[in-house]
Amino acid sequence: MRLAKYLSRAGVASRRQAEALIGEGRVKVDGLVVKKPQTLVTDRDRVMVDGHIVENIEPKRYLLMHKPPGYISTVKDTHNRPTVLDLISCVEARLYPVGRLDADTSGALLMTNDGEMAFRLTHPSYEIKKRYLALVSGIPNRESLDRLRKGIVIEEHYTSPAGINLIERVVKHNQALLELTLIEGKKRQVKKMCRAINHPVVKLHREEFAGLKIGGLPEGKHRFLSDQEVKWLYRLVKL
Ligand code: URA
Repeated sequence: MRLAKYLSRAGVASRRQAEALIGEGRVKVDGLVVKKPQTLVTDRDRVMVDGHIVENIEPKRYLLMHKPPGYISTVKDTHNRPTVLDLISCVEARLYPVGRLDADTSGALLMTNDGEMAFRLTHPSYEIKKRYLALVSGIPNRESLDRLRKGIVIEEHYTSPAGINLIERVVKHNQALLELTLIEGKKRQVKKMCRAINHPVVKLHREEFAGLKIGGLPEGKHRFLSDQEVKWLYRLVKL
């Protein structure tokens, strides 16, 4: 198995993060630093990351968190801000978030130690569906909403066609609640799309990720996925 895949399967990091670890010279195989993620290893090889042996493969864990605003969705923060991991310190597995939500965004965040699953769920080719509710400034007209639906240029590229619904006009505050269903996940995509039609996001919430709905899960809480949900994810990413 390729070294990067071995590390992600072992729950050390996502496949992309594993490639970075290898590139940084932090991974040794049988005592030698290896810098190529494609290096082949077997279970008989002694693989170490930062001097620690990567051994028995952890059981896979999958949980859905209702991320509150104010938490960042990376494993460590250089500025010591609270991270989503602080909210699940009771779970023993080494989990990491699948993709990211901005610090001020709330909602559905999948956490797992299954690196291959995380890699596929964030890879553009799988076109994983994400559904957001965005409170925006001003009330967009039909033409603006159509531009969002068809695809709009952000940073020199067209966005993919998106599902856009105007859920509510909050006339009193001159705001509108939009539902956006996207199959891609560029950085700050929703905010950039709404800004591009001159209706900046005031508040953003992700209601659904890969068919997993936040439902009545309270903010800051998490739940483990059911076996059925895990099977669904496996099918979705062709594993
Ligand atoms: N799009 C954004 O702009 N922010 C998020 O957190 C998620 C999607």
